[in-house]
Amino acid sequence: MNYCFLLSKDNLNLAKQEIISLSNKKKCLLYGNLLVIDCAPFDFGRLAYAKKVFLPLFETTPNLLSKKILSFNWQKHYSKNFCVRKSGETAFTEKNLASLIISRLKYPKVNLTSPETCFEFIFLKNKVFACKRIMEVKHYFFDRRPHLRPGFSPVSLHPKLARAVVNLTGVKKNQVLLDPFCGTGGILIEAGLVGCRVVGCDLDELMLEKTEENLKFYGIKKYKLKLGDATKIFFKADAVVTDLPYRRASFASQGIKNLYAAFFDNAPNLFKRREGILCVITPSTVKLKHGFRKIFETKIYIHKNLTRKITVLKLSRRGGA
Ligand SMILES: C[S@@+](CC[C@H](N)C(=O)[O-])C[C@H]1O[C@@H](n2cnc3c(N)ncnc32)[C@H](O)[C@@H]1O
Repeated sequence: MNYCFLLSKDNLNLAKQEIISLSNKKKCLLYGNLLVIDCAPFDFGRLAYAKKVFLPLFETTPNLLSKKILSFNWQKHYSKNFCVRKSGETAFTEKNLASLIISRLKYPKVNLTSPETCFEFIFLKNKVFACKRIMEVKHYFFDRRPHLRPGFSPVSLHPKLARAVVNLTGVKKNQVLLDPFCGTGGILIEAGLVGCRVVGCDLDELMLEKTEENLKFYGIKKYKLKLGDATKIFFKADAVVTDLPYRRASFASQGIKNLYAAFFDNAPNLFKRREGILCVITPSTVKLKHGFRKIFETKIYIHKNLTRKITVLKLSRRGGA
């Protein structure tokens, strides 16, 4: 089935890859910030960088739009009552568009506050996409920012980014996600909220106490925490996501270069069957030497002294470390 996703413009690469990872489909089309993909439905509500999800109805040009609306079978997609929304630059108003649709409906009823059917027109350069809205993705990431959690750490990721990196692994509900350098649990919170069983490891006992407080605070019940060295532990995770320690901001147990090398050496020991998807976040200035197949990389500007790099790696038995 075809779906359209209206993406947040902050990082289109990341927004697109999140959908590719969760849908397990590689082919998609991107028009501005609208992504069209043929895939099976998945839990759209867990996406971090998508704002709305639609069923595409038709695609046309602004010049042909009125004619197309008048010849389209809106009744087939209408139930109970409706509203029209539009986005992008255009001289059409929502009222114009709605009155054209009304002329094609048997018993039209408009409802602007809680419509059963929402038709949305997305204007992008010389194209218009007419869609039916399936959902508006609401996240409440703002309510989970690090300073609002009981266990605080200034280096914890923003929840929107933490959710996106979880999604980049394609991990599913009830699968096990491990963060081997979990700090105060920013990644584990987002993974727990999408239904993963989460496991955190850290060298610092205080960090684990804060993680536990945070997980409880957000009602996450399926978790395990381990005091240990991420370069030496053995585990059986389905997916591994981690924000590796940075030189200045967080406590690193050894030199950063050695720590990263030791971590990548041990990475296959973290997975069930020694294979899976590993997503790491590092400062963009660090060149990673890992020996695994890179499937995605992007950068995110945080502030003038820090741009983060997100790298998704595939560990496979044959590729090895
Ligand atoms: C960048 S912070 C992680 C931040 C985390 N994402 C959060 O939400 O708070 C890195 C963490 O790695 C831990 N750490 C450093 N070296 C470690 C090692 N060898 N094994 C496990 N944890 C380690 C530090 O104690 C620190 O809590």
